[in-house]
Amino acid sequence: MAGERNSIIISVFSTSSGNGKTITAINLAASLSCEGYAVCLVDLDLQFGDIVTYLKLEPKHTIAEAQRDFIESNGKINAIDYLTTYGHVSFDNAPSITFSVMAPPRMVYDAYNIEVPVVEKLLRDMNYFDFIILDLNAAFSALNLAMLDMSTIINYVGVVDFLPSVKNFKIGYDTLIRFEYEESKIRLVENRANSQKLISGNDVERLIGEKFFHRLPNDFPSVNKAVREGRPLMYAAPNSALTKSFTELARKYTRHQELIQSHQLGAAPVENNKQSWISKVMNVFFG
Ligand SMILES: Nc1ncnc2c1ncn2[C@@H]1O[C@H](COP(=O)(O)OP(=O)(O)OP(=O)(O)O)[C@@H](O)[C@H]1O
Ligand SMILES: [Mg+2]
Repeated sequence: MAGERNSIIISVFSTSSGNGKTITAINLAASLSCEGYAVCLVDLDLQFGDIVTYLKLEPKHTIAEAQRDFIESNGKINAIDYLTTYGHVSFDNAPSITFSVMAPPRMVYDAYNIEVPVVEKLLRDMNYFDFIILDLNAAFSALNLAMLDMSTIINYVGVVDFLPSVKNFKIGYDTLIRFEYEESKIRLVENRANSQKLISGNDVERLIGEKFFHRLPNDFPSVNKAVREGRPLMYAAPNSALTKSFTELARKYTRHQELIQSHQLGAAPVENNKQSWISKVMNVFFG
């Protein structure tokens, strides 16, 4: 029943577009679901969300209707009424999975109407899930800061293949630290790690002063096939190294000890946070 469980919230964040946030969010959701956890995947890239396309979903409701009904009913809504189910029934050896999706607005301009406190309320409604995965966009926006505050884990992903992306990755990490997110809450994930590039992941680690928590290999054909088929990688490319790497990443997040530890460190309900995102912004910019 809602209100009785505390979800592990994993936000998938990066400081550049096209770094693999959505691919990571979807495949983490699929792997966690495959492990038997109740999962909700929330598309918070409100203007250009890709989850609906990548999974070929046809949502009946989106977060835009949740926002509209929230206003019209004076807050008397529940997130559960606005979720879409992704389900894959297997008839072979592959496991069947199902997870919920909160779709983004259909119209770009509807994104402007979505209020941060409403999104926070929707996430609180979802606390009956074991895991809530947030697919964010590449910005330190008010919404993203509020979501990072609520998160148990920040899966900070980067493709660090050329100088501007390394610079953005470093600035993003330093900013997260300046916003006083505990380092233990931030997990650095290198995507397309083994692609041909001039800068090595080890150089990036030295520059940042922090080790990568996980490395996802480069596999464009598998990702492309998964997106074309509208399925997670575990079905589109079950034997690829990238699929296995997502399973491994999900297992790192579900490791019992670590899960309990991370949960104690993060995921404070927004109203109980010692310092809200807005006061963090004030501290960073005005001392
Ligand atoms: N591990 C990978 N190997 C090969 N290609 C990848 C990998 N991860 C992502 N890609 C490619 O990068 C593209 C962008 O990925 P994705 O949409 O997940 O990025 P994003 O960070 O969500 O982007 P945006 O900021 O635009 O939302 C994918 O369509 C795919 O072509
Ligand atoms: Mg995306």
